[in-house]
Amino acid sequence: METISFFDGRKIPLERHKVRIVQKLNLLPVEERLACIKEASSNLYLLHNKDVFLDMLTDSGVNAMSDRQQAAMMQADDAYAGSESFYRLEKTVQEIFGMEHFLPAHQGRGCEKVIADLLVQQGDIVPMNYPFTTVKAHIKRCGGEVVPLLYPAGLECQSDNPFKGNLDTDALEKLLEQKGDKVPFVRVEAGTNLIGGQPFSFANFRETAAICRKHEVPLILDASLFQDNLYFLKIRDEECKDLTLREITRAVADLCDIIYFSARKLGFARGGGICLRESELVNPLKELIVLNEGFLTYGGMSVREIEAIAVGLEETMDLSITSQGPEFIAYMVAELEKRSVPVVTPAGGLGCHLDASRFVPHIPQLQYPAAALAAALYIAGGIRGMEHGTFSESRDADGNEILADMELLRLAMPRRVFTMSQIDYAIDRVTWLYENRDLIGGLCFKREPNILRSFIGELAPLSDWQEKLAEKFSRDLPNSL
Ligand code: F0G
Repeated sequence: METISFFDGRKIPLERHKVRIVQKLNLLPVEERLACIKEASSNLYLLHNKDVFLDMLTDSGVNAMSDRQQAAMMQADDAYAGSESFYRLEKTVQEIFGMEHFLPAHQGRGCEKVIADLLVQQGDIVPMNYPFTTVKAHIKRCGGEVVPLLYPAGLECQSDNPFKGNLDTDALEKLLEQKGDKVPFVRVEAGTNLIGGQPFSFANFRETAAICRKHEVPLILDASLFQDNLYFLKIRDEECKDLTLREITRAVADLCDIIYFSARKLGFARGGGICLRESELVNPLKELIVLNEGFLTYGGMSVREIEAIAVGLEETMDLSITSQGPEFIAYMVAELEKRSVPVVTPAGGLGCHLDASRFVPHIPQLQYPAAALAAALYIAGGIRGMEHGTFSESRDADGNEILADMELLRLAMPRRVFTMSQIDYAIDRVTWLYENRDLIGGLCFKREPNILRSFIGELAPLSDWQEKLAEKFSRDLPNSL
């Protein structure tokens, strides 16, 4: 593998690109940050982006595009039906995944909607290594339940297990033996999002596929975060280390019946799609795509984005591009660990994940510790992260709160967007906050939606802790924004 070492021994990820278009950022003074978080009801989705200094909410649709992507967008073929841009993307997807059919969708959840509409019925159960919010909501909407089948190690925040995204294959075997007739498909998520962007190993995925085949249950891969999983297969998995990224991708794809992805992540653009082999599912899925997403040669995407995805998927097969995200994340995780800040280890993909249950152990889960930490970090540094904890859960059928398995604050690392000094700034502000963690208090709902409540729910602090935190910041850093 092509590595670059520093002569002085430092381990700093080196950008393998140069910046040619920039966007000015605002860093508001702390008093204004306090006013903004109050205006946004302590929900970081409700902030205006102009009031955010480092937007680490997500990597979704906000990765930096390459010059080649931008160039491809200029020559897109605009047509409702039969666009050449679509055929270019279809060919790229077919070459990379080796599957015959590609059905476009406007984004990942569009794929999840049509798959659930077609395959999930009342009373069904869908095993998966771990659910993502949107797929869980669609399966529930169709009357099904998701069954997470991670090994216990997957939920340990601090670990040296390189493949915490592995699915518990013994549990899958047992479940399919007992209730196979209720299982429309098994879903495996690459770069498992909600447990800290953690990958599966090749051996585990192969075993999962063998069990699915034995029980004649389709295996569906959510490849939205595949680029991170791919990188980890290359650098952590003995079985894959001598293969190219393209060969690893094909070996994984050969084990799947269906692959879907959000191209807001995979392909560094915006959109999504479903890849599948010839089967009786193709035609009904096509019908649902046309009904819900758009005609089969655009699926809700603009032709410009379709061109950008085709180039982005090719670029994903280049290790010097795909490694950028995970290397920056590993740097941030290692620096925070040096400062004793509780983070999810080993470093995963997508972002650096703070472990709120150890960062603010004094805040009970029903006061949404990860959401409180998110609001606090915005006050401390104008940094916007994303809560992954109880605030993101929905209530059960009886209206009781469901406590999240983990209380995380994800600081996403959109690819090629931030510089090293910005990451060092984030590390510094997280460290300041950790020193002052006792000042952080809990939150409660002011307005609670029924589903996907973390997106639009409104919260309020349980005391004046936000004011106290802002005052302490001004005292500690009197000459700094
Ligand atoms: N699957 C995974 C693993 C995801 O992380 C996401 C989105 C989706 C499906 C849905 O795709 O947003 O294009 O509809 N994750 C975003 C995030 C929202 O910030 O992690 P989408």
